[in-house]
Amino acid sequence: MTTTIRTAITDADYEAWRGVRIAVMPYERCPSVAELRDLDRPGRLLVLAELDGRVVGSGLADRSRDGERATLTARVHPDFRRRGVGTDLLRMLADHAVAQGYETAGASVDDEESRLFAARFGFVESNREVEQLRQIGDEPRPATPTEYQIVSVAERPELWAAAYHQVAVPTLPDMDHPVALKVSAADWEKEWISDPAAMFVAVAGDEAIGVAGLILDPDRPDRAEVAYTAVRREWRGKSVAATLKRTSMAWAADNGITEIYTWTQRGNDAMRRLNEHLGFTYGIVSITMRAPLPLTEAP
Ligand SMILES: CC(C)(COP(=O)(O)OP(=O)(O)OC[C@H]1O[C@@H](n2cnc3c(N)ncnc32)[C@H](O)[C@@H]1OP(=O)(O)O)[C@@H](O)C(=O)NCCC(=O)NCCS
Repeated sequence: MTTTIRTAITDADYEAWRGVRIAVMPYERCPSVAELRDLDRPGRLLVLAELDGRVVGSGLADRSRDGERATLTARVHPDFRRRGVGTDLLRMLADHAVAQGYETAGASVDDEESRLFAARFGFVESNREVEQLRQIGDEPRPATPTEYQIVSVAERPELWAAAYHQVAVPTLPDMDHPVALKVSAADWEKEWISDPAAMFVAVAGDEAIGVAGLILDPDRPDRAEVAYTAVRREWRGKSVAATLKRTSMAWAADNGITEIYTWTQRGNDAMRRLNEHLGFTYGIVSITMRAPLPLTEAP
């Protein structure tokens, strides 16, 4: 059987791409077709792998978030593995990245099999993220703070843009990424928030001092991903993050969400401890890997 790899073009192709993503990673929110289309840009490539006309795999090549390398993702439906589809996808994505001028590729793997696959192409571990999960039960609203207010972005939409400058820009370097994330104001508006009613900002006087909230999942309305949580340095140690997170957990309980989850970087002990304190338990470990381009394949 030969694999055919083709570019995803139509909405039906994008849905098929999502189908593979959801089958391979049922535990993580998948962007909608509209959200995927919004992320389209020159150099970003979505592909489908077909066996006998049936979509069995999907791939993505894009600029990494910090802009330093190409992020490559080959995914194969669990029922169609070990037939060379992943290899064909990854080779094709890597050729595309080389043609774009990249010298390094990044990839993430969530299981040992995928790590072995990636290692064959020269990928080595560069970082780890751990999933933290929290079941949502009866979640009391936290006591109203006295030194600051908690408001949702739905109540004050202008706060989200203010929070970019006042909270995101000064705190993103604290996330312990090996290379600082490059997040533009436009990315912040588009990718870092979903429903403004589920996003909360701590405000002291006229300033945003912290953010936390949930990214909702239309495919799984019972689950939500924890959005970026951050508090300005001078406000740390005063329970601002815990109060923001408890507010989002109370919102989750009121809105039919039974589980929330987040990914925390290795090294970000403060965030892990805060989550443990809030009752989060540990889930999957995701390994970030890097390889020089062009890829070299082990025989
Ligand atoms: C990684 C993944 C794409 C592999 O897809 P695949 O179609 O099964 O891969 P291939 O058939 O091309 O495998 C090529 C080689 O990788 C290695 N490999 C793949 N799966 C392996 C496993 N479970 N255990 C050990 N080695 C494995 C083997 O050397 C294999 O060659 P072989 O079958 O001749 O022994 C698939 O497991 C997947 O979708 N994982 C989740 C997404 C992901 O993490 N992708 C990696 C990021 S690029």
